[in-house]
Amino acid sequence: MPWCRDKEEPMIIKNAQLETVCGITSRLPANDCPEIAFAGKSNVGKSSLINALLNRKSLARTSAQPGKTQTINFYKINDAFYFVDLPGYGYAKVSQAEREKWGPMIERYLLGSKQLKVVFLLIDIRHEPGANDRQMYEWVLSRGYEPVIICTKADKISRGARQKHLKVIRESLSCVKGTKMFTFSAQTKDGRDELWAYIESLLTEPEAEPEEV
Ligand code: GTP
Ligand code: MG
Repeated sequence: MPWCRDKEEPMIIKNAQLETVCGITSRLPANDCPEIAFAGKSNVGKSSLINALLNRKSLARTSAQPGKTQTINFYKINDAFYFVDLPGYGYAKVSQAEREKWGPMIERYLLGSKQLKVVFLLIDIRHEPGANDRQMYEWVLSRGYEPVIICTKADKISRGARQKHLKVIRESLSCVKGTKMFTFSAQTKDGRDELWAYIESLLTEPEAEPEEV
């Protein structure tokens, strides 16, 4: 498989490009490669995390101004799989009308994608999740996907405080048993190897055997 690697070597990014940008009314692409989606509040660090994973400075546009990514962006990696950057939710300064379109847009994607393997839900490690985050967690779960939490901006708190913050986030989201949590910093790249190892395990999962009749 093209994304397989020698277990001793880190993931090698041979190529990564923005392939499809979907607006509110765009038809979603009928991709035939696995998709890995990143959801979360505006400004939580979705685009920065994608860049950090791909070793790119600015493939995904980032901004200190929340509300940067307002479309669903499909990045094709190594001609083998996609990272899907979802629009951030919960940004107050975006008009109410626009905000109301994002929910259905994300929902349409969650319902429509045939290739979605996992939805990463990004939460700022410093902050208790909000109502939007809880709704997103439940949405993902109720659509039959396993939400995986990534606590971002880990460089902003001391290592010693991490466990306490992770506990608050887990409890506040009412995480179901077994919900995986990662910590990540796009600034220091802390957590990058662990996240790649997990992503690769998803990509190399054997296809389910057809049931015998
Ligand atoms: P939207 O596109 O608006 O939904 O935002 P986003 O979730 O894509 O966030 P983005 O990656 O644009 O990052 C928002 C801000 O947070 C930027 O100023 C980043 O530099 C900063 N940031 C992102 N990740 C980290 C991190 O790990 N550590 C620190 N210190 N800052 C970060
Ligand atoms: Mg973004």
